[in-house]
Amino acid sequence: MLYRAPRGTSDILPKEQAYWRYMEQKVAHIGQLYGYERIDDPAFEDTRLFARSVGEDTDIVKKEMYTFKDRGGSLLTLRPEGTAPVCRAYLEHGLHNLPQPVKLYYIASIFRYERPQAGRYRQHYQFGYEAIGDDDPALDGEVIDMAWQFFLSVNLRHLSLQLNSIGCKKCRPGYIAALKDYYADHTHQLCSDCKTRLKRNPLRLLDCKKPSCQQIADSAPRSIDYLCPECEEHFSRLKRYLELLDLPFVVNHHLVRGLDYYTKTVFEIQPEGGGAQSTLVGGGRYDDLIEELGGKPTPAIGFAAGIERIILNLKKQNVAIPPIPKPKVFIAYLGDDARDEAIKLTSTLRRGDIGVIEAVGDKSLKAQLRQANTLGVGYAVIIGEQEVKSGTVILRDMTSAEQRTIPPSQLEGLLK
Ligand code: HAM
Repeated sequence: MLYRAPRGTSDILPKEQAYWRYMEQKVAHIGQLYGYERIDDPAFEDTRLFARSVGEDTDIVKKEMYTFKDRGGSLLTLRPEGTAPVCRAYLEHGLHNLPQPVKLYYIASIFRYERPQAGRYRQHYQFGYEAIGDDDPALDGEVIDMAWQFFLSVNLRHLSLQLNSIGCKKCRPGYIAALKDYYADHTHQLCSDCKTRLKRNPLRLLDCKKPSCQQIADSAPRSIDYLCPECEEHFSRLKRYLELLDLPFVVNHHLVRGLDYYTKTVFEIQPEGGGAQSTLVGGGRYDDLIEELGGKPTPAIGFAAGIERIILNLKKQNVAIPPIPKPKVFIAYLGDDARDEAIKLTSTLRRGDIGVIEAVGDKSLKAQLRQANTLGVGYAVIIGEQEVKSGTVILRDMTSAEQRTIPPSQLEGLLK
């Protein structure tokens, strides 16, 4: 074999497609239930869009972007996330002139140069919902509810919904100062990554996965104790709405997220007992992002979910999913004259909206029926020399092996 799919990417083979089509249907259905419309953005954007929004000091921007110069010399990046492109499109197409909030959803391939392992890929797919243009905490509640209802609707269970508030640009500096103060006494105990985080991105100290760093984080100041009155009010109203919606959230003081644009609400959904790598959903408010990208101040909130990880969990929990409908009938023939009949009949049935797989080549009848069996079709139509002569076909029920000889004109009606 000369070539393989690049590391961290995969082919989605036909046997997997039922999961993917099911995900797409559910995403569109939830979108429709909550009034979100689909948007599709380009797979690559101006590199600065991501550097500016996701943050220069994040792992994504520093280590994970697929960035290249095109032949015209433009610096472009394969999208490492879906929120910034949606905000760019919102501004570029004047969606701020529509009634707010504008509610959009997407299903998109995402590219991150990460160390591949189960549930972590270099190309993966996310679906996401974004509500842009309002700061009402009820909207936070709606978005979190959508994520939760998505999982209920696909029958995925044993999930935990984690929530936090990381404040806004008014109150966060006070919190960061308190964090730095606290960590100053623990610098020598930190892993080398955390030593860098302390200087460049102190919030991220809280979600280091190393047990020794986690122990230090356990006693660190909590963001919710440093919220300004506005953020505090927002957070307490949100919690009340989540209770009204009957969503079983837990407040996780270590939840800070890996992208810099978040303000106030942040949330994640994880399988119970799973670590960071198993996180299915990540999201939150990003009230300053649109302004950062050149628009008027425009609050917004959204989330995205990793489709591969959801499918892994559906399989783990043995959740049944609807199969993709297959062609109903296989047409087998023996001899050249029969083949002419088979070609005509195949076309008639397909034009009558009946899915047909026609045998090809000159295999024995036995081999053709074996193929029909493997394909899982409900019926086989058999045309041999005898049938050509008498102007009939044999219709075989593949489950019961019952056969009957009929004129071809009856086939369409019978199969329907
Ligand atoms: P994120 O947490 O970076 O957030 O990614 C969202 C989800 O994508 C994760 O929870 C995970 O399920 C999946 N995911 C991320 N990286 C990988 C990977 N390498 N392999 C497989 N799955 C992965 C965002 O990207 C934000 N844009 C979410 C958001 C939308 N916030 C507000 N609106």
